[in-house]
Amino acid sequence: MIMGEYKIAVIQGDGIGPEVTQEAIKILNVVGEKFHHNFTFEYALAGGSAIDACGECLPKETLNICKTADGVILGAVGGPKWDNVPNAQRPEKALLGLRSELGLFSNLRPAKIYDALADACPLKAEIVAGGLDILIVRELTGGIYFGERGYREGKYGEEAYDVETYSEVEIRRILKNAFEVAMQREKRVCCVDKANVLETSRLWRKVAEEIKNEYPEVVLSYMYVDNAAMQLVRNPKQFDVIVTSNMFGDILSDEASMITGSIGLLPSASLGDSSHGMYEPIHGSAPDIAGQNKANPIAAILSAGMMLKYSFHLEKESEAIENAVKAVLEQGLRTPDIYSQGTTLLGTKEMGEAIAEHI
Ligand code: NAI
Ligand code: MG
Repeated sequence: MIMGEYKIAVIQGDGIGPEVTQEAIKILNVVGEKFHHNFTFEYALAGGSAIDACGECLPKETLNICKTADGVILGAVGGPKWDNVPNAQRPEKALLGLRSELGLFSNLRPAKIYDALADACPLKAEIVAGGLDILIVRELTGGIYFGERGYREGKYGEEAYDVETYSEVEIRRILKNAFEVAMQREKRVCCVDKANVLETSRLWRKVAEEIKNEYPEVVLSYMYVDNAAMQLVRNPKQFDVIVTSNMFGDILSDEASMITGSIGLLPSASLGDSSHGMYEPIHGSAPDIAGQNKANPIAAILSAGMMLKYSFHLEKESEAIENAVKAVLEQGLRTPDIYSQGTTLLGTKEMGEAIAEHI
């Protein structure tokens, strides 16, 4: 990576993917101009549009472009058009392929409530007064979703099993990742597990006790997952960074996203060992509103902001994007998914432009 030069792979994807991705690129160009960075974009195909163009959901060329870029941004893939494609070539397989080929084992999902959108939060106003900002770090390539599974003859007839396995190596790298991101936040890590029951959770705790010595500024705590599920709705503000296994993270990150309002607001990052990462909104291709200039581009724009922070280490620039989003929301500008009476309705493009003006 040359100082000030960043090569970004862009997978626009399907449905609203291209619409929201274009707005993210618009914002990156404005940030580049203002802060004197040169962002260059290299487009690649994946998902349904790749199936249409070359008969496979994740062409080799796409992988090459992603591997040689400094960061990858992705819109969303899939849609009803490809529902009858054979399983191995379904658009969603492109995501799994990208994650494993790029070694992205850590999934970062911020859940943030903006003051201006507090009424979209299903929790009582006093619980989230002053805003909410938590980050869930989910292990993405191990655990029970990848463990041994099958059927066998048991004592009482046929039984099925799924095995949760975690190696020290897998645990160490995800915990390190969580401590690193905590250093850029409030420096608090809560390791969520079920250590009263599960052996894997006890290994997570053993590794966490070692790693915390490398990060003396970070405060480490532990919480059982059942309690964490409860605390996320009772008092979510107690959390800064939550780090957890694949399955627990899957469940808790969906729970946390629901307390923030619209799916059109939430970004995500998938990271590996190096600073290389893939950044995408948590929503899908939204075929019901595709091509209508109705999609909320904020999730895609904030995903680009996460890339600046986590892959390029451009803190100020990332903050400028977050502040611009906050400013337009405070101005009462809304896409249809977050519209309420008394606010101003904008389309995808107009929302992107309004955010660009605030950078
Ligand atoms: P979805 O997230 O695409 O849509 C769910 C609902 O949220 C829809 O009503 C949609 O209009 C709305 N929505 C989503 N994003 C929005 C935005 N930015 N602004 C305003 N409204 C928004 O989930 P769905 O319908 O289950 O999936 C549609 C397709 O997307 C499927 O083919 C699915 O497999 C794929 N998908 C892809 C993902 C990815 O590429 N990472 C993730 C989730 C789904
Ligand atoms: Mg899920």
